[in-house]
Amino acid sequence: MKIFLLFLLFCFFTSLFNSCFAGNVTYDRRSLIIDGQRKLLISAAIHYPRSVPAMWPGLVQTAKEGGVDVIESYVFWNGHELSPGKYNFEGRYDLVKFVKIVQQAGMYMILRIGPFVAAEWNFGGVPAWLHYVPGTVFRTDNEPFKYYMRNFTTFIVNLMKQEKLFAPQGGPIILAQVENEYGYYEKFYGEGAKRYVTWAARMAVSQNNGVPWIMCQQDDAPEPVINTCNSFYCDQFTPNSPNKPKIWTENWPGWFKTFGARDPHRPAEDVAFSVARFFQKGGSVHNYYMYHGGTNFGRTSGGPFITTSYDYEAPIDEYGLPRLPKWGHLKELHKAIKLSEHALLKSEPTTLSLGPSQEADVYDDGSEVCAAFLANLDDKTDKNVVFRNVSYHLPSWSVSILPDCKNVVFNTAKVGSQASLVEMMPEELMPSVTSPSKGLKALKWDVFVENAGIWGVADFAKNGFVDHINTTKDTTDYLWYTTSIIVGENEEFLKKAGRPVLLIESKGHALHAFVNQELQGSASGSGSHSPFKFESPISLKAGKNEIALLSMTVGLQNAGGLYEWVGAGLTSVKIEGLNNGTMDLSMSRWTYKIGLQGENLSIYKPDGLNSINWVSTSEPQKNQPLTWYKVVVDPPSGDEPVGLDMIHMGKGLAWLNGEEIGRYWPIKSSEHEKCVEECDYRGKFFPDKCLTGCGEPTQRWYHVPRSWFKPSGNILVIFEEKGGDPTKITFSKRKISGLCSLIAEDFPMVDQAPVR
Ligand SMILES: *[C@@H]1O[C@H](CO)[C@@H](O)[C@H](O)[C@H]1NC(C)=O
Ligand SMILES: *[C@@H]1O[C@H](CO)[C@@H](O)[C@H](O)[C@H]1NC(C)=O
Ligand SMILES: *[C@@H]1O[C@H](CO)[C@@H](O)[C@H](O)[C@H]1NC(C)=O
Ligand SMILES: *[C@@H]1O[C@H](CO)[C@@H](O)[C@H](O)[C@H]1NC(C)=O
Ligand SMILES: *[C@@H]1O[C@H](CO)[C@@H](O)[C@H](O)[C@H]1NC(C)=O
Ligand SMILES: *[C@@H]1O[C@H](CO)[C@@H](O)[C@H](O)[C@H]1NC(C)=O
Repeated sequence: MKIFLLFLLFCFFTSLFNSCFAGNVTYDRRSLIIDGQRKLLISAAIHYPRSVPAMWPGLVQTAKEGGVDVIESYVFWNGHELSPGKYNFEGRYDLVKFVKIVQQAGMYMILRIGPFVAAEWNFGGVPAWLHYVPGTVFRTDNEPFKYYMRNFTTFIVNLMKQEKLFAPQGGPIILAQVENEYGYYEKFYGEGAKRYVTWAARMAVSQNNGVPWIMCQQDDAPEPVINTCNSFYCDQFTPNSPNKPKIWTENWPGWFKTFGARDPHRPAEDVAFSVARFFQKGGSVHNYYMYHGGTNFGRTSGGPFITTSYDYEAPIDEYGLPRLPKWGHLKELHKAIKLSEHALLKSEPTTLSLGPSQEADVYDDGSEVCAAFLANLDDKTDKNVVFRNVSYHLPSWSVSILPDCKNVVFNTAKVGSQASLVEMMPEELMPSVTSPSKGLKALKWDVFVENAGIWGVADFAKNGFVDHINTTKDTTDYLWYTTSIIVGENEEFLKKAGRPVLLIESKGHALHAFVNQELQGSASGSGSHSPFKFESPISLKAGKNEIALLSMTVGLQNAGGLYEWVGAGLTSVKIEGLNNGTMDLSMSRWTYKIGLQGENLSIYKPDGLNSINWVSTSEPQKNQPLTWYKVVVDPPSGDEPVGLDMIHMGKGLAWLNGEEIGRYWPIKSSEHEKCVEECDYRGKFFPDKCLTGCGEPTQRWYHVPRSWFKPSGNILVIFEEKGGDPTKITFSKRKISGLCSLIAEDFPMVDQAPVR
């Protein structure tokens, strides 16, 4: 007894810092059972490499304050295994540190190892090198793929075991995931698919990590692996066996963005509705994908065309600030669910019809605990219903939660939380005076211009085209395709004003066309469609003309059947309007160069900065393509989060102090597309339901974490592909400039879209 008491005390004190061992995790049809206790769990996806270690404790804490019990993350294979057996767990990839921060917050962790993850992440998280291991086909019954998948999965499980991070070891990890949404794509893989699913499940279970394994969107997940639901709504989901609990791994509270597209919004009322319905219908674990979306730093975004921002309109915004009212509304929802938890777990629900589209689920075992959820599924009409002789007003498309079967503590359509007004406050770049030459006010820009075409020695030459991705193997976004043509003196266009037209076809993703070092134009695919055509008049002269085509990838494909075989790059180049008609250059001799000179010399990294001769100026030329800029600046004042405003730039890459900010591209969505003024939360949500931002850049600001700044002497490096005005770049501070209470209407129909 005494020992037991001491043990309890020990648990109490250590639980101030730790969740005192989570313990044995089992399950039955109703819920997970952790150390003998049934739990209903609210989980929040926060992907560790989509923020920085300095932000992790704050993000986890903000989730906890939002009523979250569990943090969920994928494991990002291509960030960890840089080449076979060469691992990286530094900085943003310090997985152990992240899991320990979750543990210290007294929260649980769901580790979705994959290691294929999709996630709008480059190549779905699978290392590009694996595609070039001979004989490899991803995600099917294929020896090399299975070897490397098992190898990495084992490595991660062993690392977690070593650090005692699984629940039975006293750690926070209560569930692990293998594979990811394979059910959507099984049909592409024929016979091998089923064998692969069986193998993946066995391989996972044989890891003996002591916690249950899940497979999401996988109706045929073999025992004992639990199949889980990913969708905007999962109340109607049932697992594939009666002894498995109902788990929702991905409820999308917003959606991702692609460069050149509009901004999707999912109203807080509908997110809350979907969550309440899930628990009303016997749900046990619910995860927001994403709760904090964060940033696709560097070249980590998937694609093609996924933006550098992965904000996702999540309850915590990209910069780490709670998004109101969404965060606050869901916090109130979580409280209501927790108040009902005991009743929900104690009994089976009884469903009562309260009207044509109105129903109650009542959790009442005759004891004093009783909880009820009253739902109005009508997407147009409010209803007054009678439940247990009491009348309740139910706004359309809403759920009321009654933790005592009498009093409504929460209705999903009534937003009580404040809404925040968020602004990006520009602050000019401030020169950092590191030398004694005081009084230096103007910024000093260092400029380096790349050759438009081959720099140094060509990599190879060949008749016709190579596949872009096969050639770069994703070591860079850039591949030069160059050739030359001779134009005769007697060409008619030389005498008239007309110009020949350059016609290019590409499998994807984007292109800048140069002739004789001059940019002639650019083109790109859009949305999920990467192929595109380029057509533009060009300036040619008599004699030899250099044609240099800069082909670019903008994030590799991250999902789909046999997705790793989707190529990119040029497939046809022609010049129209010559005396002889059209000149087809597709089978000409093409000379290739992989990447840029500045990349090769790492001139964006502290130790590579001096490997070229920068030209200094206080007035850098505007609209100059293929230009590197370097400037030494002070951090912006204050401590608000910072975004780099690139609205006056074209397209390229940016770094601060050698840290990769990522791709920037303030490309605008078409102003001719449809956008909404107000978003009606009622009715089934879909990603195109509530779009805003027509005719505006999809992404104007690029997150620069505060922890990347030094007190002075910060080196900002920009590579601009097509031309911009670097003097107009600012650091903008993300400020909550006001909070306003929503007028407490009975059925507010408009979500307050955050002002950005
Ligand atoms: C874990 O829980 C199950 C079911 O309650 C039980 O059979 C098993 O012995 C427990 N294991 C440990 C290590 O406590
Ligand atoms: C994984 O592969 C590496 C080499 O790539 C090897 O050294 C290591 O032993 C393998 N680990 C496992 C668990 O198979
Ligand atoms: C509802 O009212 C009827 C008639 O007054 C009564 O018989 C019944 O017991 C009441 N039910 C509840 C749950 O209070
Ligand atoms: C890439 O190269 C491999 C091997 O040469 C070839 O099988 C594949 O078809 C190529 N992919 C594309 C998209 O051209
Ligand atoms: C035009 O076509 C003729 C006949 O095919 C050929 O002899 C000549 O070289 C061509 N001229 C040019 C400029 O390509
Ligand atoms: C840079 O380019 C040279 C010459 O093409 C090549 O040998 C070297 O491997 C490249 N270095 C890097 C880091 O890409």
